[in-house]
Amino acid sequence: MKSNIYLIGFMGTGKSTVSQCLAKLLGYEEIDTDEWISCQQKQSITQIFETYGEQKFREMETKLLQGLGKKEHKIISCGGGMALRQENVALMRQNGAVVLLTAEPETILSRVKEDHGRPILDGNMNLEYIQDLLEQRMPYYQEAGEIVIATDQKAPQEIAQDIEKNLRIGKICFAF
Ligand code: S3P
Repeated sequence: MKSNIYLIGFMGTGKSTVSQCLAKLLGYEEIDTDEWISCQQKQSITQIFETYGEQKFREMETKLLQGLGKKEHKIISCGGGMALRQENVALMRQNGAVVLLTAEPETILSRVKEDHGRPILDGNMNLEYIQDLLEQRMPYYQEAGEIVIATDQKAPQEIAQDIEKNLRIGKICFAF
């Protein structure tokens, strides 16, 4: 039975913040894939992109997911590109519930605009770019997410409770 929760979605949909709230709510340990990779490489995500390129970073993400396979009762906050690879989606679905967090492009921009740690948005910090990229990625996110939660104008605690409620409904076989 699945006992991990993967949070996926575009940058600025609140994955990291919600993940911390959900971990507290359920008493689970939290893993942030960006933090994990950055710690392992001893470099920031921006530096990893600069040193190795995006493709190599995507391979690091897949490797991390493979390594997480045996873990139980973890909340895994995924980088915004994690659900774009079919291989990753299969790995997440195998041992966890995949929860998609969404937000309107305006909400996303307001949440990410002061943050300069995202190489994908470096030099592209505007509504049009976010709208376009979100549109391109949405089919992948929707295909991957088993539970979908809109996060606009909601507090992280409320979103965490929504996720728990959805998991308790039992649509997905999930072991608390
Ligand atoms: C990325 C999102 C980032 C990080 C990297 C690439 C993406 O994570 O993994 O900068 O391609 O959407 P967040 O979604 O946590 O910002």
